[in-house]
Amino acid sequence: MTQDELKQAVARAAIGYVVDGAIIGVGTGSTANFFIDELAAIKDRIQGTVASSEATAERLKKHGVPVFDLNDVDSIAVYIDGADEIDAQGAMIKGGGAALTREKIVASVAKSFVCIADGSKLVDTLGKFALPVEVIPMARNAVLRELAALGGQPKVRTKPGSDEPFVTDNGGNLIDVAGLSITDPVALEARINQLTGVIAVGLFAARGANVCLLGTAEGVKTLS
Ligand code: 5RP
Repeated sequence: MTQDELKQAVARAAIGYVVDGAIIGVGTGSTANFFIDELAAIKDRIQGTVASSEATAERLKKHGVPVFDLNDVDSIAVYIDGADEIDAQGAMIKGGGAALTREKIVASVAKSFVCIADGSKLVDTLGKFALPVEVIPMARNAVLRELAALGGQPKVRTKPGSDEPFVTDNGGNLIDVAGLSITDPVALEARINQLTGVIAVGLFAARGANVCLLGTAEGVKTLS
């Protein structure tokens, strides 16, 4: 099976976690895009969605799936999203697709988090994938120095084909920290959250995934 087929398989399996009549939180990225396409087929069963990025909102709307502002909903039954890495405890690195802050906000409101990923995303220790951190632009270099002091190799993410810093949906910039071996994800998440100028860190450990649907050659495996 190709990686896309594995992503499609977990996206289809995630439909089993959609709560009828409820608001569903929807993540960002290629796996989430497969989920959106599956969700479109059952859109009449749900009240609507809250999107974790402008790209996701656009895709949902193209399918005719209602998208609500988070400020206009009282609760989200489930949040369904991919990950760049996930460990056996459900802690994740996210933000490869630049949407980590809104993903974290929507996930924090959701009653449960279902992570959908192809099997290559499961790791023993988080950190091989460079950890994304969203920052206020004026604090970019100050935070970069603080992150270097934590032992990683931080680098400002740039716009494709340019030397200019990448700008997120929130007007923030991103720093990707390579070379970390994250043995205590909850502690590192708290530590980076405390740096002045940080908007959000792409470690989802204090609030990790409740369920992970992993796409493998042997079928979809459920970790919970
Ligand atoms: C976006 C994310 C994505 O969930 C993560 O990058 C995984 O993406 P993909 O499903 O394309 O592998 O965190 O900010």
